[in-house]
Order: sequence, then structure tokens, then C-alpha cells
Amino acid sequence: MSDSGLPVTTLQGKPDRVLISAEQIQQRVREMAEQIEGDYPDRPIYLVSVLKGAFMFVADLARALSRARVRIEFMAISTYGNAKTSSGQVKVTRDLDVNIEGHDVLIVEDIIDSGVTLSYLKRLLEQRRPRSLEIVTLLDKPERRIRPVAVKYVGFQIPDEFVVGYGLDYAEDYRNLRDIRVL
Ligand code: IMP
Ligand code: MG
Repeated sequence: MSDSGLPVTTLQGKPDRVLISAEQIQQRVREMAEQIEGDYPDRPIYLVSVLKGAFMFVADLARALSRARVRIEFMAISTYGNAKTSSGQVKVTRDLDVNIEGHDVLIVEDIIDSGVTLSYLKRLLEQRRPRSLEIVTLLDKPERRIRPVAVKYVGFQIPDEFVVGYGLDYAEDYRNLRDIRVL
């Protein structure tokens, strides 16, 4: 048992199905980076990553980009509600410490579910007058959307299942897994 009471041993066995393997993730991240490289002029790109879930994705995406001028920034956001669903209440708990005005900004997220978090964040950052503002998410659960939000780059569309690994957690566990698994 882990601290949270979850049976970590199940991860060595079969019950937790691999939805997207580590190899598939790495392949897709390279493709996305190539596409982003082609879309952006030769200026710094600000990757604004949302903690904690996107930490692994932003690390791999940043390394897959070939230009030298990639700036990596972090924000933290809390949504009130229980661990598996997000409620409508969004709050910035750690803001950027740089001015993004006039810069190309790419919000980097692990997953878009209801869309509540990203629609809030996009509106917030838009007010700071970046040169451009787009969203890149590794995963998208379109069935669950309640707030429409334009996402330019999507790694994988997935069905309405709760997934963990590659940064994504359930009650703070499983973030370290290399694959994305269904809990
Ligand atoms: P949204 O505001 O509903 O789009 O929620 C997005 C956030 O909910 C993500 O950044 C995750 O923290 C969390 N989340 C949504 N679905 C999952 C999931 O399947 N696994 C882990 N976290 C999830
Ligand atoms: Mg998140």
C-alpha cells in the first residue's frame, strides 16, 4: 500500500492497462515538436507549463524542439473538487514571474478534460498581450468538454477513462510511470 492507501503492487501486474506506451508517447512528442518548429518564426518560444501534471511532457517537448531559444516557465493552478473530477473553481496558486507581453506563448498541459482549467488560463494570459497564445496538450478527452477551448496541438485523443502516468496522478501517486495507464 502507498501512503494514500492505493495498492502500488498492481502496477507490476496486468490490471492497470497501458493505454499509451512510453515509445508511443516519445514518437508523438517528436512529431508535435516538429510541427511546432514549422509553425513558429525564429523567435523565443515561451512554454508555459501547468504544474504538476505537465512536468514530464514539457521536459520532453522542450528537448524535442530544435531551436535554442525555448523559455520554460511554470504556473500552478488549483481546481477545487475531488481527485477525479474538476469543479468550476479555478485559482492561480503560482503565477509566472516573467512578462509575456509581445512573446509567442504556448501553454503546455498534460490533459484537457472539462476544459475549465484551460479556458480560464487562456483568458488570463490573453490579458497580458502575448504576441501569440496557443495550447498544446498531450491528451484530450473531448467527450468530457463543458467549456469549449481551442487547442492547437493535441497528442492523443482518449476515451472518457481516468488515466495516470507520465506526469498524471491519482491522489499524487503514479506520476513517475513511463506509460499512460488506465486506473
Ligand atoms: P479540466 O479543467 O477538467 O480540463 O481538468 C484538467 C485537469 O484535470 C488536468 O490538468 C488534470 O490535473 C486533471 N485530470 C483530468 N482528467 C484526468 C485524468 O484522466 N487523469 C489525471 N488527471 C486528470
Ligand atoms: Mg494538470
